[in-house]
Amino acid sequence: MTYAIRAEGLVRRFGATTALAGVDLAVPTGTVFGLLGPNGAGKTTAVRVLATLLAADEGHATVGGYDVRRDAHRVRQLIGLTGQYASVDENLTGTENLLLIGRLLGLSRSDARARARALLADFQLTDAAERAAKTYSGGMRRRLDLAASLVGRPQVLFLDEPTTGLDPRSRNELWDIVRDLVADGVTVLLTTQYLEEADQLAGEIAVVDHGRVIAQGTPEELKARTGGQVLAVRPTDPTDLPTVVAVATEVTGTAPEVAQTTVTVPVNDPDVLPAMVRRLDAAEVAVAELALRGASLDEVFLSLTGHRAEQDAPAGTDLERIPA
Ligand SMILES: Nc1ncnc2c1ncn2[C@@H]1O[C@H](COP(=O)(O)OP(=O)(O)OP(=O)(O)O)[C@@H](O)[C@H]1O
Ligand SMILES: [Mg+2]
Repeated sequence: MTYAIRAEGLVRRFGATTALAGVDLAVPTGTVFGLLGPNGAGKTTAVRVLATLLAADEGHATVGGYDVRRDAHRVRQLIGLTGQYASVDENLTGTENLLLIGRLLGLSRSDARARARALLADFQLTDAAERAAKTYSGGMRRRLDLAASLVGRPQVLFLDEPTTGLDPRSRNELWDIVRDLVADGVTVLLTTQYLEEADQLAGEIAVVDHGRVIAQGTPEELKARTGGQVLAVRPTDPTDLPTVVAVATEVTGTAPEVAQTTVTVPVNDPDVLPAMVRRLDAAEVAVAELALRGASLDEVFLSLTGHRAEQDAPAGTDLERIPA
């Protein structure tokens, strides 16, 4: 197997903060690799080191076989980077932004223009092409950002939280774009705080917390680590909730959780599903949803770290475990 990205023992400190505490990564060529972690986990720092923007204090890394420090120039010719924060010039139009980058990359004026036009069309920005980027919506800006990182036809693409702040539809569109790129052979390293995003796109996920990889595997492997599945039942009539809770408790032998109008309960035996259907039918409870699903990556994160992915616990503290 060839690896588009390899990192060994990356350490990076900022004063007293250790942003990377010894990170190893191996990303097979032509795959999407997800770096998943909460705020401050070290995701952006890892991307910046791999994209030659920041030197590591210890360890080494290669991209496309080139050392990110010794052969930074070569690495830069292979990669594209869409940063966490918009990098396009707000005062330029979509076309002008892409033309500028094309010219910086050494394309002729006509090649740069053709590339800009094609990318704007691919990203459904043709209608907005001649408007200043500051007039774009958040989703349009993210698309322009991504288009900008593709002008040079990168073999390896770094996407740092590409869908943060996007609505579900824009997020889905961006996911499709990433899938198309990978189908064309591009390797993608994606950072995200969204467990679902890593699940949707990545073949392999490294879970990062406090600058360390605390777990790695396919989405399925990570989910399997929490063991078992979750049964979710949503009655059509919310007044049936107590009945559903009682039936679920009886069938599974475990106390369920109720969130809004859905009852969830961990199960280890798939036979509970038909048993549940029979008992609910006998109790004349109509259900809007009845599903057996794998544990979500949120549940995985909680079981791996002891805290939820949304929480931003500063390094070295353990506030949520201090008894009240
Ligand atoms: N230039 C810097 N100077 C000082 N500290 C920094 C710098 N860059 C990052 N850090 C610190 O390093 C740690 C990791 O930051 P990083 O930006 O890599 O996290 P992240 O996983 O990208 O988080 P987020 O999801 O919020 O983007 C944080 O504690 C951050 O405050
Ligand atoms: Mg970041």
